[in-house]
Amino acid sequence: MSDDQRLRVVALISGSGSNLQALLDAQSAGLPMQCVAVISNRGDAKGLDRAHHHDIPTAVLNHRDYPDRDTYDAALRHLVDGYEPELVVLAGFMRILTPAFVNHYRGRMLNIHPSLLPKFRGLHTHQRALDAGETEHGASVHFVTAELDGGPVILHARVPVQPDDDATSLAARVLQQEHQIYPTVVRWFAQGRLRLGEDGQVWLDDAPLQPSCSDDRAQ
Ligand code: GAR
Repeated sequence: MSDDQRLRVVALISGSGSNLQALLDAQSAGLPMQCVAVISNRGDAKGLDRAHHHDIPTAVLNHRDYPDRDTYDAALRHLVDGYEPELVVLAGFMRILTPAFVNHYRGRMLNIHPSLLPKFRGLHTHQRALDAGETEHGASVHFVTAELDGGPVILHARVPVQPDDDATSLAARVLQQEHQIYPTVVRWFAQGRLRLGEDGQVWLDDAPLQPSCSDDRAQ
């Protein structure tokens, strides 16, 4: 498939970028996307090295160089739009985004979050799941809306909590599942099968989608 038939994707990261790596591996294996840029708010993000390894342009936009969130997000939007993405993927981008930024990318920005949303929005999700005595935990891919970690869920991956789990062991198993479900959802989007309706409903193959476990759903 030529470059111009593939979905143009910009990835935003802050850290390790293992989800970015999963997407790049899927791209190499035929997922019809072209990651056209990786942008980080941190210069030391390991994910930048992963992008360099794949010859993908990178940029660092340090939030500490901006006086407030509005100014930073305006600069970020300008930077992102310069790459003309059809989809923006948040891959461990640890910033709260302004409504103006989020609304600009409505229906074309995805996030992955390490919990079974709507449970455990925000940080420290694995420890909070353990503290709550959950027997099941996991990850969610969702469209991004102005509500933090509150956008409509597209796909869940469920992970059983083991009696001897701590936050580290649980996080590792959840992360493995993240690496499965993010490429799956990006593939649906790239194939034109997935969209966010005006009413906030997610549609897959022209049918309203109920959030579902990855095991339930064909690729
Ligand atoms: C992932 O677990 C992702 O779900 C989480 O950050 C980690 C990034 O890992 N994102 C959030 O918590 C966003 N609310 P990675 O850099 O190795 O992909």
